[in-house]
Amino acid sequence: MDLLLSRASADTLHEPAPSGRILETILSAAMRAPDHGKLRPWRMITVSGDARRDVAERIVASMKRLDPDVPQAKIDKRRHRFSTTPMTIILGRHLRPDNKIPLIEQDLAVGAAAMNILNALHFAGFGGLWVSGEMTCDPVLAAELGFPAPHALAGFIFTGTPEPDRTLPKRRDVTDYVAEWNGKPVSFGADQGKVAE
Ligand SMILES: Cc1cc2nc3c(=O)[nH]c(=O)nc-3n(C[C@H](O)[C@H](O)[C@H](O)COP(=O)(O)O)c2cc1C
Repeated sequence: MDLLLSRASADTLHEPAPSGRILETILSAAMRAPDHGKLRPWRMITVSGDARRDVAERIVASMKRLDPDVPQAKIDKRRHRFSTTPMTIILGRHLRPDNKIPLIEQDLAVGAAAMNILNALHFAGFGGLWVSGEMTCDPVLAAELGFPAPHALAGFIFTGTPEPDRTLPKRRDVTDYVAEWNGKPVSFGADQGKVAE
C-alpha cells in the first residue's frame, strides 16, 4: 500500500529506462487491467535509442500538420523531449466499434492498463509521465505508428529513472471524494468549493 500511495508522475527522467525482463514484467501489468469482453484493447510500443529521433520527427510533422503556425519553441521542446527521454511507451487503442462492448469501456480498459504500467514502473524503481498533446488525436500519426482507424493513440508514457530526492506532490484528502449512500443524491466536499485548487 505504501508503494501504491507514493506513486507520482516523474517529470524529470534520467537513464536508465527499464529493459529486458524487468521491462517485460512492467508491461505485463497491462494484462491485469479490467477488461469487459476480454478485448485487450491496449497496445504498447517501446521507443528507445536511435528510434527516438525518428519518432520525435514524426511528432513534429504531426504538430505542423495540425497547426501550420505552431510556435517553433513548442516544436523544439517536444523534439527535445521525445529524442532525449530514455524511453517512450506509445499507448495505442485497438478499438472495435462493432463490438457489443461500448467504445467508452474499451477506452477505460486502455486507461486502466496505462495506470497499471505507471504503478509497475514506480514499484520497480522507475518513473513515468503520461502525456497526450494534440498529436494524440492525429489519425495520420496514429496510422504511421501502427494504429490505422478505427484504432488510435491514447498518449505517450515518458519512462526512465526519476530524480532520487524529488519532492512529491501533496494529494488532497480522499474524504472529499467519497460518500456513503443514504438514499438521497449525494454531494461531495470536492464539489462544494471546500477544496483549494
Ligand atoms: C490521458 C492523460 C493525458 C495527459 N496528458 C498530459 C499532457 O499532455 N501533459 C501533461 O503535462 N500532463 C498530462 N497528463 C497528466 C500527467 O500524466 C500527470 O497525471 C500529472 O502531471 C499529475 O501528476 P500525478 O500523476 O503525479 O498526479 C495526462 C494524464 C492523462 C491521464
